[in-house]
Amino acid sequence: MSLGIEKTCFLNVPTPLQRLDRISADLGVDLYLKRDDLTDFGTGGNKLRKLEYFLKDAEDKGASMLLTVGGAQTNHGRLTAAVAAKYGLKAAIVAVDPYPGEISANLLLDGIMDCHVYLAEPKEGQKESVLLEQTVTEVTAEWEARGEKVYYIPMGGSNELGALGYYDCALELDAQVRQLELADPRVFVTVGSMGTYIGMASAFANEHLPMKLTGIGVLPYRDIQRSAAEYYERMRAAYGLPEELKAEDFDVTSAYDCGGYNNPVAEVREAIYYMGRMEGIILDPCYTGKTFCGMLRMIGEGKIRKGDTLIMLHTGGIPGIYTKHHRTEMEKELMDHIHIL
Ligand SMILES: Cc1ncc(COP(=O)(O)O)c(C=O)c1O
Repeated sequence: MSLGIEKTCFLNVPTPLQRLDRISADLGVDLYLKRDDLTDFGTGGNKLRKLEYFLKDAEDKGASMLLTVGGAQTNHGRLTAAVAAKYGLKAAIVAVDPYPGEISANLLLDGIMDCHVYLAEPKEGQKESVLLEQTVTEVTAEWEARGEKVYYIPMGGSNELGALGYYDCALELDAQVRQLELADPRVFVTVGSMGTYIGMASAFANEHLPMKLTGIGVLPYRDIQRSAAEYYERMRAAYGLPEELKAEDFDVTSAYDCGGYNNPVAEVREAIYYMGRMEGIILDPCYTGKTFCGMLRMIGEGKIRKGDTLIMLHTGGIPGIYTKHHRTEMEKELMDHIHIL
């Protein structure tokens, strides 16, 4: 049962749950992909489910503009821009990041959808979080002086409200799993700002869904299980969820973060090429490629066994392959596929 909080529905769901036949045969597992990369707007991705809730809240508050924060290449910002465009709202993104030297990937899509991106670089000794807050305040004041009513969405859409999008997704997935009669599937989810994972973990625990959930952290967390427990406590407080969970109840790991966030990693690119060459499906270098790379490593380490039923959530992020620091690495590796006649 969903938690009864209203949202503005704009997604064509359920998203497909597809079996990856060739990879399953190759690895000796039963692997499915939940295609949240195929959600409707702005080239798709997981943030749209969160944005259904934010949009409703923004509409209720009479907002005329959505403003969010993230890195210069934020997927969440791009999808906020898409929803704003679809509903006739203005959009802005504030990032503490240098200008990357080119308008590519998400930055390009942001501009196409008329979203303004504010890039602030910290001066010596300036704390990034302070600069971000200051810049959000300034940009908000600037637009409000022009008559807009600004609705603020936190980084990655990860608060108690945004996570509900993935509470709903867990229920949707459960119905698909029952229909396909999959036994004891283990679901793998990317963990960035954590709203996707916590939304699903909240539903798994409180709706007693017969599936396991594993979160793969793609950025360095000091203590990822503790962060999960703290976020879950906020969900419990907000919605009165009955299940009490401790840090060790969360199967979430930083072991496959490859030592950084959005860093180019040869092994991750190998995982992306493997998926592309075996299934014709594109993963991204920051989130889904790293998660799939982690799953491949877990198979090698015996943490996933032959014959296991696995579901990976494809959360989108594909524009990331067009960012300079990833693209140039791939260009070097793929040059042998270009034949100039
Ligand atoms: C493509 C993609 N996948 C996964 C995630 C992680 O989701 P969350 O931030 O809810 O953990 C993000 C977050 O930005 C994303 O853009």
